[in-house]
Amino acid sequence: MGIWWTKCVFSFIVLLRFVHFINAQPYDYPTANLSTRWINSPSLRHSVNFTDGSMVRSILLRGTYGPRFACGFFCNGTCDSYLFAIFILQTDSVSYITSPSIGFPQVVWSVNRNNPVRINATLDLTSDGDLVLKDADGSTVWSTNTSGHSVAGLSLTDSGNLVLFDDNNETVWQSFDHPTDCLVPGQKLMEGKKLTPSVSVTNWTQLSLLSFSVTKEGLFASVESNPPQVYFSLPVGVTNSKTSTLTYAIFLNGSLALFSSRLNESDSFLTIPKASSAQYMRFDPDGHLRVYEWTTSWKEVEDLLTGYLGECSYPTVCGNYGICSKGQCSCPPSAIDGTNYFKQVDYRQPNLGCSETTTLSREASKHHSFQEIKNTTYAIFDSNLENVDLESCKVACSKNCLCRAAIFRYGTDAARGSCFLPSQIFSLVTYDNRYYNSIIHVKVQNVTNVSDVSTAVTRRKKRSRVPVIVWSSHGSFFGLLILIAILRLLVLKRRNSEEGEEAYLDQVPGLPMRFSYEDLKGMIKNFSKVLSEGGFGSVYEGLLDDGTKTAVKQIDGLSHVKKSFLTEVEAIGSIHHVNLRKKIILDIAKGLTHLHEDCRQKIIHLDIKPQNILLDENFNAKISDFRLSKLIDRDQSRVVTTMRGTPGYLAPEWLSSEITEKVDIYSFGVVVLETLCEDMQCHRAQITTMLRVAARCLQSDHTKRPSMSHVVNVLEGVLEIENNPEYELSSLPLKTMSAEFTALLPSVLSGPR
Ligand SMILES: *[C@@H]1O[C@H](CO)[C@@H](O)[C@H](O)[C@H]1NC(C)=O
Ligand SMILES: *[C@@H]1O[C@H](CO)[C@@H](O)[C@H](O)[C@H]1NC(C)=O
Ligand SMILES: *[C@@H]1O[C@H](CO)[C@@H](O)[C@H](O)[C@H]1NC(C)=O
Ligand SMILES: *[C@@H]1O[C@H](CO)[C@@H](O)[C@H](O)[C@H]1NC(C)=O
Ligand SMILES: *[C@@H]1O[C@H](CO)[C@@H](O)[C@H](O)[C@H]1NC(C)=O
Ligand SMILES: *[C@@H]1O[C@H](CO)[C@@H](O)[C@H](O)[C@H]1NC(C)=O
Ligand SMILES: *[C@@H]1O[C@H](CO)[C@@H](O)[C@H](O)[C@H]1NC(C)=O
Ligand SMILES: *[C@@H]1O[C@H](CO)[C@@H](O)[C@H](O)[C@H]1NC(C)=O
Ligand SMILES: *[C@@H]1O[C@H](CO)[C@@H](O)[C@H](O)[C@H]1NC(C)=O
Ligand SMILES: *[C@@H]1O[C@H](CO)[C@@H](O)[C@H](O)[C@H]1NC(C)=O
Ligand SMILES: *[C@@H]1O[C@H](CO)[C@@H](O)[C@H](O)[C@H]1NC(C)=O
Ligand SMILES: *[C@@H]1O[C@H](CO)[C@@H](O)[C@H](O)[C@H]1NC(C)=O
Repeated sequence: MGIWWTKCVFSFIVLLRFVHFINAQPYDYPTANLSTRWINSPSLRHSVNFTDGSMVRSILLRGTYGPRFACGFFCNGTCDSYLFAIFILQTDSVSYITSPSIGFPQVVWSVNRNNPVRINATLDLTSDGDLVLKDADGSTVWSTNTSGHSVAGLSLTDSGNLVLFDDNNETVWQSFDHPTDCLVPGQKLMEGKKLTPSVSVTNWTQLSLLSFSVTKEGLFASVESNPPQVYFSLPVGVTNSKTSTLTYAIFLNGSLALFSSRLNESDSFLTIPKASSAQYMRFDPDGHLRVYEWTTSWKEVEDLLTGYLGECSYPTVCGNYGICSKGQCSCPPSAIDGTNYFKQVDYRQPNLGCSETTTLSREASKHHSFQEIKNTTYAIFDSNLENVDLESCKVACSKNCLCRAAIFRYGTDAARGSCFLPSQIFSLVTYDNRYYNSIIHVKVQNVTNVSDVSTAVTRRKKRSRVPVIVWSSHGSFFGLLILIAILRLLVLKRRNSEEGEEAYLDQVPGLPMRFSYEDLKGMIKNFSKVLSEGGFGSVYEGLLDDGTKTAVKQIDGLSHVKKSFLTEVEAIGSIHHVNLRKKIILDIAKGLTHLHEDCRQKIIHLDIKPQNILLDENFNAKISDFRLSKLIDRDQSRVVTTMRGTPGYLAPEWLSSEITEKVDIYSFGVVVLETLCEDMQCHRAQITTMLRVAARCLQSDHTKRPSMSHVVNVLEGVLEIENNPEYELSSLPLKTMSAEFTALLPSVLSGPR
């Protein structure tokens, strides 16, 4: 009996220990000692299969709850190839990695993108301190080369840095020094280092075409052609690049900040939404630098490099020679004589770009000529020649056998423009010459063989334009209130008289934008979400390419169409009552007062424009987008910085490049002017006050501009504004100023989206 009991209790204890071992294996295992080997097999801790097809096998994991860093093997899909990587996982306090259906592993660093390993590959932390990754066949794939450097162990830090440390706990090697395509909060991108994207989510191979890098001069995103073409830059400001010792960018809570050590202050920065949870940023295959954040799943919260041309500011968006128009891609049209010099690489995938129908040949260079591509610009512009005319620009390109196009920009004087001669052509962008004039001549091979000519000439397909109309009140300022009407029946029933209808529609005032029926259908997800059904048709919810929410109305019936359409436009117009306007202006003024006068450090926004004013559902206006803004100390009245802002909203003193918060006040004046229109008859007094405020703000002598608190007082009726100040408004015509800014356009100047 006694023996039986002893036996029973013993096995019970053994069982208990076993259960304990299974359930409570340590889930926080952030360090490892020398002479440790891990094999890429199911026996590794925390092997999890996720529902999106990916799988992780963790080696080190730090932390017990929430989004946590882990390192180990990662695969996706068939799982015959693995990365050794650092990823972010969802964990909970009972040791399990949770939510295999939403908390997908986010790979933020890896060592073998170009050489994935197989099952049974090994990772060794050798006795002499080397960390070595070997494939299943024993071949070395990667190593830290740290043997003999007194390495004492391996650790994964709280911030996601994989560190080999020595006996004094000094860092011998760290993953932060070898970034791949991601940065995590706290990580620095040091001068000389770069991020390069992977080919795609499923193909990890490094895409060497694009890079995001830090140099002494600043932060740059480039296409790695020869020479590289920079499509985004954030230059260091005041620093004399020769004396500064080290420049780096750092991912902080709220910004990607650029530091140069001589200054010891953030010099320029890009704004990121404050992190409420784990964040990371990834340089994606399309050249975007996106910030992702965990909420209940991983979501994109910011897209950092998008310039004034929107989606089209990315050089690979439509491939080589592709023309980007509102995110849609096409090839250059046939030349005036009917020759098609370009064709789509793949008709089903227009974003892959275009190829020459006859390849440019150096031997036949005497048969080179130029095709003008009308109304386009090139997002990248890096002037090779200044103060030249178009003809000299073209001649320079003809003489240079590497030159693929003569890209010419000018302001008011076509004889004194800038000329860029790229050796490779990435995407072009349709452009309405609002800020500068752009003329692009691409080099083409004349087809000398008569029979070739005849095959190259294809009938230029007339793209039928569907009479579809977007009415946008006040451009994008009231972007929330866009009504789109689809005159679908018109299209179906009146195909033949299309031209006539279009001519009619052209005369309707205030109808600037048109979308094709196909584009609209995409926008409203093929009529999937009905918002309401009204007298003349249904209203659908849609989303513009730039993320603007829209209501799309499909008008049924023919007879009432014109009348009801115009009535509706009028109705929406009346929403913009003058008091609402006024309220918005006051909100902006108060916001700017706060920035300029209330904070410990003065904040100059530097990019005040309608696009950066957000309206909530109660029409409260908020200033947003501080990516160009500058912090200065209270006692520092002036600050010298590189030119930044948006053409059209830039104060004239930018040309002397010594600026104060009065540049914001100037931009504010432009915004006020833009908001005031219509309604002059009914609200004369109010409008006159606002016009006076605008005029005061727009004075070219910045010392004469009022302070923002003064403006607030005037708008609230506390102060009167003088009736007849001597205005001296800037006499610089927009295009002259633009010409001065041209060289900067791809850099810190942002623009209307
Ligand atoms: C590493 O070695 C130390 C000292 O021998 C030991 O206390 C510790 O538990 C070891 N750590 C791991 C993760 O094996
Ligand atoms: C996870 O996926 C791997 C590879 O696809 C497979 O071998 C394994 O059985 C899966 N494990 C579970 C628990 O489903
Ligand atoms: C795995 O691949 C699928 C596509 O096959 C992709 O949608 C998913 O995001 C990938 N998962 C991870 C964690 O990369
Ligand atoms: C991995 O190694 C184990 C043990 O040596 C072996 O049984 C298994 O077949 C190997 N797997 C592969 C895919 O080679
Ligand atoms: C380690 O050394 C090898 C051979 O010298 C080299 O190819 C490899 O790039 C080095 N690894 C690292 C991480 O520097
Ligand atoms: C080693 O340094 C890290 C930070 O660099 C610190 O978190 C850790 O506690 C230190 N370890 C020891 C044993 O001092
Ligand atoms: C991944 O991309 C590289 C480079 O474009 C290509 O050579 C390779 O074939 C691709 N791999 C797969 C599996 O598609
Ligand atoms: C830079 O700032 C840091 C923290 O504010 C300070 O510790 C450091 O001494 C400063 N360095 C210089 C060169 O001023
Ligand atoms: C970032 O800053 C915000 C506001 O200052 C704060 O609430 C948040 O906790 C911070 N996030 C992290 C991850 O530190
Ligand atoms: C090329 O063709 C264009 C028009 O087809 C013609 O005007 C031009 O003279 C030709 N140039 C050469 C070098 O053949
Ligand atoms: C180019 O733009 C001008 C004015 O902006 C317009 O008149 C002309 O038709 C456009 N040309 C083409 C080919 O689209
Ligand atoms: C012209 O092109 C045709 C077919 O491409 C070829 O057969 C012919 O030899 C060419 N003629 C000359 C003069 O190059």
